[in-house]
Parts: sequence; C-alpha cells; structure tokens
Amino acid sequence: MRLLVGGVTVLTTATGDEKRGMTATAVCSLSAEPPRVLACINMSGEMFRLVGQSGALTVNFLGAGHEDIAMMFGGARPSDDPLDRLQWVEGSNGAPRFSEAVAALECTVADVFPYGTHAIVICDVQNIETNENPHPLVYVNGRFEHLAAADHRKLDPQ
Ligand SMILES: Cc1cc2nc3c(=O)[nH]c(=O)nc-3n(C[C@H](O)[C@H](O)[C@H](O)COP(=O)(O)O)c2cc1C
Repeated sequence: MRLLVGGVTVLTTATGDEKRGMTATAVCSLSAEPPRVLACINMSGEMFRLVGQSGALTVNFLGAGHEDIAMMFGGARPSDDPLDRLQWVEGSNGAPRFSEAVAALECTVADVFPYGTHAIVICDVQNIETNENPHPLVYVNGRFEHLAAADHRKLDPQ
C-alpha cells in the first residue's frame, strides 16, 4: 500500500463540547448522485467514537504547505489541541472546516460498516467549499509530496 498514491485529508468532527481531527488517506468517492464518499476509520481511536456521537464528518483535502498539519493529526497528540492552533471555521454540519483546505466536503454520516479493526463510514456530502491552492497533497512510499503536474493549471472543482 506504500506504493499506492493517496490523497491526504484531515477528517474533522465535533459534538457539543468536543472536537477532533484525524489525518486519513483511506477516503474515496462512492457516488455522484447522490454525492457520497467513504472513509475507513480505525474503531479503536477517538475519532470514531466522536463521529458516532456527532453524525457529522468533514473531509478536508490538504495541499502543498500542509505537511505539518498532516503530521499533527496523524499520530500522537501534543497536550494542546491542534485544532485550536489553526484556521478553522464551523461548517454547515457543525464540524470544524480548515479554511485553507484545497477543498472541504461537509458531510453527514449515512451508514457505518464495521469490518475488523476499521469501519467503512459512508458520508452524504451536504456542502462543498474550495480554495485556490492548486497543489493537492499526496502520500506515497511513506512521504508527503505534492503534484507538480498540476503546477501549470488551476484545478477545476466542477
Ligand atoms: C498519512 C496518514 C494517513 C492515515 N490514514 C488513516 C486512515 O485512512 N484511517 C485511519 O483510521 N487512520 C489513518 N491514519 C492514522 C491516524 O491519523 C492516527 O492514528 C490518528 O492519531 C488517530 O486519531 P484518533 O485517536 O483521534 O482516532 C493515518 C495517518 C497518516 C500519517
């Protein structure tokens, strides 16, 4: 799997008094009509617990320059909350949205399929926000890279 290029996202969610972000590459599109994506989330983590409570999940696509954010949300946590140190806004689904994300899909959770250690979380996309950053961040062979091929053209979110 190290040789499969993955787009890097930070999944976010929030309940009344708790919020959480988690770096994830196991995210892909499911259908266009209705707009749906899926994310595979480890059931032993805090993120899965909170998503179950909130029923809301935002998929924030990271871009060039966001490598430190991917690291921050992809492992052991510092004592302070990384979400407090970044430019987040509250999205339409109540989850934090990273205002500098290449794109953010604001979703509600439609279904959850536990399988082994992880769950396949099916998400209905309710709202999409995009930015001008034309360099999506990818993860391959244990490293973060961004797409040089996209350098000369602006990505069209349509
Ligand atoms: C590049 C990268 C991709 C990751 N992708 C996923 C993923 O798709 N699903 C997952 O459950 N964890 C993934 N992880 C691990 C989680 O980000 C990490 O275990 C996180 O600390 C779990 O947070 P939690 O304790 O809030 O659940 C990934 C980590 C990195 C660095």
